[in-house]
Amino acid sequence: MGIHPDFPFDLAEVLAGTEPDRPVYLFSPAALIRTFRQFETAFSGEVTFAVKANPERHVLRTLCQAGMRAFDVASVDEMRAVRAVCPEARLHYHNPVRSAAEIAAAKRFGITSWSIDRISELDKLGEIMGQEIAVRIKLPVKGAAYDFGSKFGAEPELAQALLRAVEGRGARASITFHPGTQCDDPEPWRRYIAAAAEIAEAAGIKLERLNVGGGFAANRGVAPDLQAVFAAIETAVAASFGRGAPKLVCEPGRAMVSESFTLVLGVKALCEEGVFLSDGLYGALMEWRDLPAPERITALDPDGMPRSGPRAPRVVFGPTCDSLDRLPEPLPLPQDLAAGDRLVIRGMGAYSLCLATGFNGYGRAQVVVTG
Ligand SMILES: Cc1ncc(COP(=O)(O)O)c(C=O)c1O
Repeated sequence: MGIHPDFPFDLAEVLAGTEPDRPVYLFSPAALIRTFRQFETAFSGEVTFAVKANPERHVLRTLCQAGMRAFDVASVDEMRAVRAVCPEARLHYHNPVRSAAEIAAAKRFGITSWSIDRISELDKLGEIMGQEIAVRIKLPVKGAAYDFGSKFGAEPELAQALLRAVEGRGARASITFHPGTQCDDPEPWRRYIAAAAEIAEAAGIKLERLNVGGGFAANRGVAPDLQAVFAAIETAVAASFGRGAPKLVCEPGRAMVSESFTLVLGVKALCEEGVFLSDGLYGALMEWRDLPAPERITALDPDGMPRSGPRAPRVVFGPTCDSLDRLPEPLPLPQDLAAGDRLVIRGMGAYSLCLATGFNGYGRAQVVVTG
C-alpha cells in the first residue's frame, strides 16, 4: 500500500496488526489538539467537551493533557470515564433528567454543576446551596440537523420561574441552551443569547454563567464557518447583556472531535443488490441514517491507491443478517470498487464509535493512534 496524498500516514503500516473485517479508527491526537486550540483562541469563555460525542479514553486523555479542565457529562459512566484519565476535571452534569440513584452517584463524584428544565428535577437534587444550576431553555429555532427542543428545555416563562427557584434555594443560577447538533447558522445563537438575557432580566436574576452549547458544525462536505458563530456569540452577548455579561462556557461534542478520527471499513462483497461493508447502521454508520456524509469517502484498492472510476449510486449494506442494516440512501461509489478494497472516511470522530451496538458480533472497532 502506498501513501495516499489525503492521508498523512502509510495505511499499510497503520493497518498492520488490525483485523481486516473489523472497523478501524485512526485517531490523530494532533488534530484533536488543533481543534481544541482553535476553540480556545476564538471562543471568549471556557471550552469544555461533550463526552457523549466520543468517550474514548484516548480522546479524554488527549484533551486533559492539552489543558481541558471541565467536561459535559450525561451519565455516571461518562463521569467515571473522565475521572479515570483526568481526576481533577470539573464535571457539568448536563442531562436535565436523572434518577435518584444517578444523583447520589453524581454527588459521590463531586458534581456541583447541574442543569434542569423542570421544577421536579430541581426538587430531586435536594441540598444545592452554593452549587451551579443551569436552567436549560428552548426556543423554536431552525438551523440544526434536527430539533433539540423536542425533548429538553424550558420555555421562557417556566425558565424565569426556575431561575427564581434556583436562587431561592441558595444556588448559583446560570442558563444553558443547545441550538441543535450540526448547526451551521449563527442565527440560533443570536436568538438564544438575546432570549437568555430577556429571561434573566424578567426573572430579576444576575446569571453566573451562560452556556452556549453544543451544536457547532463539523465539516460534512462543506467547511463550517465557526469564526462566524464565535463572532455572532460575542456580539450578541455584548448587545444583550452589556457590562454585566455572564461568563461564557461552550460544550462542543461533534465539532471538537470529528476531524481527529478517520474510519477504515472493508468492502466484503459486491453484488447486484449493492455493496456489503464490514460495518454499517448498527455500528460506525448509525448516524448516517440521518446525517450521511458520502463526500468524505475515499475508496482505496488493496495497494492503497484510489479507485478512480466514475461514481454511481450503490445501495450499502452492513455486515449483520438484518435486512434493516442498510443505509436509507444509496452512496455514490466508484464503479471500479471491488471486494477487498477499503473505504476510508474522514471526519468520523463524533457519534460513531459510541453508537456501535455490537449486534450480531459486529461493530467492535479497533482504534489506532496515529500522529
Ligand atoms: C447538553 C448537551 N451539550 C452538548 C452536546 C453536544 O452537542 P454537539 O455534538 O452537537 O456539539 C449535547 C448533545 O446531545 C448535549 O445534549
